[in-house]
Amino acid sequence: MAQFHFVEDYRNHVQRLLEVHPRDEAMSLAVGGEWDRLGNMLSDFVLQHGVTDGMRLLDFGCGSGRLAFYLAQKCRLSAYVGLDVVDELLDYARERVPSPNYLFESNRALSLPSNLASFDVICSFSVFTHLLQTEIFLYLQAFEKALVPGGRLIVSFIELSSHWQVFELSCQAHAHHGQPYPHLNQFLEKHQISTMLNHLRFEHLHFIESDDGIGQTVVIATKPTGASVGL
Ligand SMILES: C[S@@+](CC[C@H](N)C(=O)[O-])C[C@H]1O[C@@H](n2cnc3c(N)ncnc32)[C@H](O)[C@@H]1O
Repeated sequence: MAQFHFVEDYRNHVQRLLEVHPRDEAMSLAVGGEWDRLGNMLSDFVLQHGVTDGMRLLDFGCGSGRLAFYLAQKCRLSAYVGLDVVDELLDYARERVPSPNYLFESNRALSLPSNLASFDVICSFSVFTHLLQTEIFLYLQAFEKALVPGGRLIVSFIELSSHWQVFELSCQAHAHHGQPYPHLNQFLEKHQISTMLNHLRFEHLHFIESDDGIGQTVVIATKPTGASVGL
């Protein structure tokens, strides 16, 4: 089967960065830069929004492990699973976070690995920005199934109005390369995410504006305690 665009996009992106930067710098730039500041901020953010000792957490699109690195110092999760599509990022994350209950696994499908147990929290930072709407919905559907009843979803995305400059830069790069470069940048609006989450029967949707939180819009939603839903 052909590879999904996000696999090719991100593997090429990381390869190019590794060719011209020292490894630590490449691993930081691959996830948007400021590895320590953002890792610290993201870990504080999830702790402020319900993550506590003893929980099982899935970090979808974990990159080079900056959230995991800081979370491991601040919280005693019973299990952390980080999924990503780029082996070099996962290798780096494993080196930086050698804790036995922190696992980093490759996943290049439009679904989650079938052997995963349920999670209390699923978070995904700066990943939906690089996916098509259909892909986002398929993953949200998989997240809904992988959460325990009452489990929490924490997902960031960027909106046109708050990230207009990124949009303009993406337009210029697209015009120059003839395709999204170095990867797809997708801009979502709150009502689009709400529509998808409502279809999946998520409850208690709460949005945090980019200026009030981590520099991206974040949606927090809860899986109801009833049965799973299909497409
Ligand atoms: C901007 S980086 C953010 C990484 C990490 N969440 C963080 O904030 O440090 C986006 C990450 O998503 C990963 N990614 C892209 N598409 C993915 C997919 N379909 N499944 C899992 N990871 C994906 C990329 O490889 C990259 O590591």
